[in-house]
Amino acid sequence: MQYTSKTVRDDFIKFFLDKEHKFVRSSPVFPISDPTLLFINAGMNQFKNIFLGREKIEFKRVVNSQKCIRVSGKHNDLEEVGLDQFHHTFFEMLGNWSFGDFSKQEIIIWSWELLTEVWKLDKQRLWITVYKDDVESFDFWKNNTDVKPERILKFGDKDNFWEMGEVGPCGPCSEIHYYTGKNISDQTSKGVNKLDEYRELWNLVFIEFNRKKDGSLENLPLKHVDTGAGLERLVATLNGIDDHYKTDLFIPIIKKIEDISGFSYSKNDDVAHRVIADHIRMVSFSIADGIMPANEGRGYVVRRVLRRAARFGRVLNIKGPFLYCLVESLCDVLGDAYPELVEKNKHIIKVIKIEEESFGKTLDRGLILINEIINSLDNKIISGEQAFKLYDTFGFPVDLTRLIAQENECDVDTKSFERHMNAQRIKARGSHKFKDSNNQSEWNNILDSKGSNFIGYTSTSCNSKIVKYRAIDKNLEIVMDKTPFYAEAGGQIGDTGKIQSNNIIFEVLDTYMVGDDMCHFCKLVKGDLNKDINNDFQLEIDLNRRKKIKSNHTATHLLHKALKIVLGSHVQQAGSLVSDSKLRFDLTHYEKLSSSELSKIEKIVNDNVLENFQLEVKNENYKDAKKQGAEALFGEKYGDIVRVVSIADFSIELCGGTHVNRTGDIGLMKIISESSLASGIRRIEAVTGMEAIKYVNDKINIVHNMKQTLHCNSEDIINKVEELNKLSKENLKLKNELQGFQINDIFNQKVKSTKTISNLQFYQYEINFSIDVKYFIDKFSSQYKKNSIFLLGIKTDKPIIILSLTKDLTKNNNAGMIIKKVADQVGSGGGGPSHFGTAGFTDQEIYKKAFKLLLKNLNEI
Ligand code: SER
Repeated sequence: MQYTSKTVRDDFIKFFLDKEHKFVRSSPVFPISDPTLLFINAGMNQFKNIFLGREKIEFKRVVNSQKCIRVSGKHNDLEEVGLDQFHHTFFEMLGNWSFGDFSKQEIIIWSWELLTEVWKLDKQRLWITVYKDDVESFDFWKNNTDVKPERILKFGDKDNFWEMGEVGPCGPCSEIHYYTGKNISDQTSKGVNKLDEYRELWNLVFIEFNRKKDGSLENLPLKHVDTGAGLERLVATLNGIDDHYKTDLFIPIIKKIEDISGFSYSKNDDVAHRVIADHIRMVSFSIADGIMPANEGRGYVVRRVLRRAARFGRVLNIKGPFLYCLVESLCDVLGDAYPELVEKNKHIIKVIKIEEESFGKTLDRGLILINEIINSLDNKIISGEQAFKLYDTFGFPVDLTRLIAQENECDVDTKSFERHMNAQRIKARGSHKFKDSNNQSEWNNILDSKGSNFIGYTSTSCNSKIVKYRAIDKNLEIVMDKTPFYAEAGGQIGDTGKIQSNNIIFEVLDTYMVGDDMCHFCKLVKGDLNKDINNDFQLEIDLNRRKKIKSNHTATHLLHKALKIVLGSHVQQAGSLVSDSKLRFDLTHYEKLSSSELSKIEKIVNDNVLENFQLEVKNENYKDAKKQGAEALFGEKYGDIVRVVSIADFSIELCGGTHVNRTGDIGLMKIISESSLASGIRRIEAVTGMEAIKYVNDKINIVHNMKQTLHCNSEDIINKVEELNKLSKENLKLKNELQGFQINDIFNQKVKSTKTISNLQFYQYEINFSIDVKYFIDKFSSQYKKNSIFLLGIKTDKPIIILSLTKDLTKNNNAGMIIKKVADQVGSGGGGPSHFGTAGFTDQEIYKKAFKLLLKNLNEI
């Protein structure tokens, strides 16, 4: 192979470094604070706010290689994957950007230079497309490169107007396509954007607009360039290979699939190899960046993709979990370029294995069921209800059901399935703060400022002006010029407090990010915003609440380290919540923590609290911080300069949150619960400071009350309780024996009816003490096998009647119904299955009436 993926990636980056670009690292595969996007789907996502003029431009030219996932929303390739040799759920996008700097002309010349001079691609195979109205681009290609004018084609919105999503930055684009067919003379302009032999290699987007919610286009303040070239495609094309899965990016993974399954990959219809090799990349990178398979949101998408891959394992006759075995091969291929894969290797393997194990159990049963369903179909359509059952009971994502249906020339009633799923979907949205756009008005811009200048690490109050605001239901989201309010991030909840001026008071209920804006979610308590909109406002956070949050956040760092010391280095953070009332820490660990482990962990944390270490907070270069061993906390956004929080030599983490000055400020940490969150994930909850003291005092009060109730010293409580336990067991035994005697006694009486019920043994008896009804019914059915009826009246304060029939009589009679009918007649409640019924009464008179009525009814049996 002439061009390895590493050479291509390096060539691309070097080419633009030489053109004064700055290299930035790939962002994680999901956006930290963009509610419009589930996964990063293009290199430009992390720059969205720069395009929109909301974020300061630090470097005007940037180059990178971005991890992208296209499985949802506007860019969704999931269903294509495997059917051909060149679609992927996960791919690397090489890209470069101009933020208001160079223009169309430069990038057109440079891209042509890189493709045809550096990489020497055959100009006779390259095609150029431009947006139909973009005369400028057409002319640049024609006049500034040696591409033949007849190879420059014009297309409309569908092909040459690129948009990130339903809303956001967009603009006309110019694409470079490559003809991969065998015979160069077979080419025709009609094939471009139509036939698979013509592959889009590189997209040059001229970002000029913002698509708004109402569909209109707004001009952006500056014109930008955003280019993207899929690495997998480039590597294949440069090596003259048609099939991406035969490039060095996939060969080791495919090889491993061949080893495990015994099926070699060669043919076009080897869909399973491709699906598995593709999906393991999407799943592993997602887990490496902190997403866990789950039943909602991003976690659900990862689970879906993983299950799809697991099912294709069955197509290759692989029984049991196997996907996790591919992670090592993936690390061999991409570990250098993306070290997080190597760092999190063990974690990724564990999570995938556990997920496969739990799905495997239902997969085979689900496959049997789906085959049964397909065989029983008259109309070749799996109903929404059936698809939902497969989803709900067997964990079959609907696209998996649809795929299997299609393989069998059937379809799924997706609309009806969606109706069944609606409730779950709402839940998934809620979990990601996806705002309901119907209740949200447009922003009202007041001040020309980027806003969101956070001063809350050092101040808790300040004066500031309103930059913009919008209404959300009856409340407002307000962005201030500067603010001490911490916006929810990295697990730490947002601050609350007050924003006020002379005539207005807002209560700040929450603070969170929307894009790069720190939004104060406010309730207007007093005044009229319209009158005083330009005022100077005083901002003040709820200091006491913040103090508690800080204490819980620093304790979270201590807990994280203590967990690693006690349980081992496999422990990874899988999520966290730092609030004012408690802290919650989810970790990857595969068994319940014992009470001795929990005590050890708690002791380590409190030892560090008592040391009263001074915290050190520094802004550092990311690489330096990682070299010192800094832990990256889940959900942080990593810029190149990172905030490093150190607690002596004990803990060092990358963290944007707020912390105490000295560990002694925490006072005390108490773990209050340890539980299982999902397979392989444990959850620990703890409290600090006054909450911890309150927790301990509550427990002491319980001991105190027990002392009083048991009339003993605290040292004797355990003995006393053990004694009581023993007594209560004995008591229960005696009670059961007594019940047995009493009920046996009832049966021994055998009060046989002399009345009119022919051919039946009829027993009728009344008692005036309570008995275990279930015991009585069991006893009746074991003692009497057929032809018998027992009517038992229990004449206590709350009288009950039980009617029991032997099984043979239930063919034509139903005890539950008989007793219900009678109970209804006397205004009481009753019922039960066919072999027995019970009814309860409020007093003796009604009871007597019912008993008589029953006797009458039984004559008719
Ligand atoms: N944003 C464009 C794309 O994703 C170019 O980077 O194709």
